[in-house]
Amino acid sequence: MRLCVNIDHVATLRNARGGSIPDPVEAAQIVESAGADGIVCHLREDRRHIKDSDVFKLRKIITTKLDLEMAPIPEIVKIAMKVKPDLVTLVPEKREELTTEGGLNVISMKKYLKKIIRKFHNKGITVSLFIQPVRDQIEAAKEVGTDMIELHTGDYANAPTSRQKRRYLVIINQMAKLAKSFDLIVNAGHGLDYTNIKPIVAMKEIEEVSIGHAIIAKAVFTGLEEAVKEMVRLVKKV
Ligand code: PXP
Repeated sequence: MRLCVNIDHVATLRNARGGSIPDPVEAAQIVESAGADGIVCHLREDRRHIKDSDVFKLRKIITTKLDLEMAPIPEIVKIAMKVKPDLVTLVPEKREELTTEGGLNVISMKKYLKKIIRKFHNKGITVSLFIQPVRDQIEAAKEVGTDMIELHTGDYANAPTSRQKRRYLVIINQMAKLAKSFDLIVNAGHGLDYTNIKPIVAMKEIEEVSIGHAIIAKAVFTGLEEAVKEMVRLVKKV
C-alpha cells in the first residue's frame, strides 16, 4: 500500500502567526525523504491553510507525486489547470466545516463532473473522487469517467464502539471490491491514524491511503520525519 501525507496543517500552524514558518515546502521535502509516496494539499476556497503560492512551489519541488485536493468549482479548477498536479482529488467543501465532511455527491452532479474530468484528462491530470463507501456513488463515479476513487473512512474512524467499527470495515471492504470490479483504482482516507490503520492496510483492493492530521499531530512530539516513518512502517508492513 502507498502512503500519501496531507500537509495542510503545517500551513495551518504557519498561518496562525501570518509568517513563513513552518514552511509546507520544507515539510514536503521531509515527508518525501521519510519514505512517503506522495504529498497531498487541499486548496480550500477560503484559503485557511494552503495558499495558491504554496501549491505552485510544491509543484516545483515534489519528486514523488502531488495530489491536489479541491472542490470542483470553476475558480479552483482554473488554478489546478495551471499547477498541473499529478492527481486531483475532488471533494465537497462547505465554508463552515472544520474538515471535509462527507463525500462528493457524484449522483447529483454527473453531467458537470463528466465535463471537468474530461478537462483534467486533456491536461494529463489523473482524477480521483472522494466519496462515501456507497454503491450508488461508486456506480456514478464509474459513469463520470474518474480514474480513481478515495473511499471516505471517517465513519469507521469515528465510530464509538468496536462493533460499529467492524460494521463500517465490512462496508468499506465490500465497496472497495465493487469499485475494483469496475476497474477503478481505490484509495482511502479521512480520520486514519496509528491505531486504526491496520484493518485498512489488510484490504488488498485499497492501493493508497491519504493521512494528514494524525501524522502532523504526532510530529509535534516526535518530529515530522519520525512521524512519517512510523506510519510508513504500518502502511507498508515493514
Ligand atoms: N482525504 C481527503 C479527501 C481529505 O479531505 C482529508 C482531510 O483533508 C484527508 C484524506 C485526510 O484526513 P485526516 O487529516 O483526517 O487524515
